[in-house]
Amino acid sequence: MARRPDEPLRGWMGVAGGWTLVGRGNETVANTQQSADGGLCETVHVALAERSYDIFIGAGQLATTAERMRALGTVSHAVVIADEAVAGYARQVQAACQSTMRADLLTVPSGEESKSIARVDQLWQDLLRLGADRKTCLVAVGGGVVGDLVGFVAATFTRGLRFCQIPTTLLSQVDSSVGGKTGVNLPQAKNMVGAFWQPSVVVIDTDTLHSLPEREYLSGMAEVIKYGMILDAELFERLERSVEALRRRDPSVLRSVIARCCELKAQVVAADERETTGLRAVLNYGHTFGHALEAVSGYGAMLHGEAVSIGMVCASRLAESLGRIDAELTQRQVRLLEAVGLPTRLPDLPHEELWRAMQHDKKVEHGRLRFVLPARMGHVELVPDIDASQVMAVLQASH
Ligand SMILES: NC(=O)c1ccc[n+]([C@@H]2O[C@H](COP(=O)([O-])OP(=O)(O)OC[C@H]3O[C@@H](n4cnc5c(N)ncnc54)[C@H](O)[C@@H]3O)[C@@H](O)[C@H]2O)c1
Ligand SMILES: [Zn+2]
Repeated sequence: MARRPDEPLRGWMGVAGGWTLVGRGNETVANTQQSADGGLCETVHVALAERSYDIFIGAGQLATTAERMRALGTVSHAVVIADEAVAGYARQVQAACQSTMRADLLTVPSGEESKSIARVDQLWQDLLRLGADRKTCLVAVGGGVVGDLVGFVAATFTRGLRFCQIPTTLLSQVDSSVGGKTGVNLPQAKNMVGAFWQPSVVVIDTDTLHSLPEREYLSGMAEVIKYGMILDAELFERLERSVEALRRRDPSVLRSVIARCCELKAQVVAADERETTGLRAVLNYGHTFGHALEAVSGYGAMLHGEAVSIGMVCASRLAESLGRIDAELTQRQVRLLEAVGLPTRLPDLPHEELWRAMQHDKKVEHGRLRFVLPARMGHVELVPDIDASQVMAVLQASH
């Protein structure tokens, strides 16, 4: 994944209503290295001044966690906090750490309910009991739920502890573990309380994906395909050529695909760490329709990535209806999404409710909606002023 010599070293360029990545950013270039046990490991550097950190990606990486934490300096205590469904991986991490430092293990129940202030409170008490201090590093082992929860506990306990992310779902490996958004839900509103708090290191072990249920794996794959659509035509083509390898979770294909997704997200985050320039919005492609689908079908009925898969197809059809793209671009997405096993057709849900749910989404401006829409493969734009009739027409055409 080294930068080609002919590629210009430029970063992000604002274009009419959107953003485009010109060449490769000069600060987040993945490189492949042989790790001590002979396995291949890719490294992505996330450039955020004094909050910069590295992401290590490869098979067998769990065992390297202790050396990654030692490299941070002054870490003498690890508290591993894991989703109970992946306690086995967490014990491997704890054992690896125990060779050189004190290492404790805590578990939390699986599921979105663990992203609550009650759970945060309990973890604060546990950390106090375990004598956590500034030399303690928290280690989050699990999917996005545990990453968001532990990140928030790290941001707040003693006004900030270091933490290491060990994401174990494909979604968390390509999305939630990169970018520093941490937080919990309120009973009425998801992700309503939180903090921007960057991890000190991220360790992605592709072996952990072997135990992931198929639907969860595919849900993450929707976000992977999204990166191709929004930022990287070459990645999209690579995914089209690798369907069979992706379906059998081939470790070397996953390593390089996950590294590329992390690199793309890292570039967006480095340019818009706190969501102030609008660039980070490109990551929401397919999400306005997707969030509405999740809400109207009842949270939990549809996985996030399944809703985003259908949402991307709807957004693409909307771009088509506005004359921004040809039908072929939508068809290419449908073919890839269906080939990997993702849904692309709208389930039978009341269109008015979907429209109402979209208006509750964050991207509302004076009653009209803004959508992230494709302009061509690998490039999206933020399009304002979309009204109900345009959205309804797309919903009609998407069953
Ligand atoms: N911080 C961010 O930028 C960001 C971005 C996207 C999503 N999120 C958040 O992430 C969460 C969703 O993340 P998720 O999809 O990883 O969900 P999750 O953490 O709930 O994990 C999904 C399921 O897989 C299980 N699991 C995890 N790893 C496993 C493994 N290796 N083998 C077997 N089972 C395993 C979990 O127990 C759970 O049942 C949401 O709360 C969402 O808000 C955050
Ligand atoms: Zn998403």
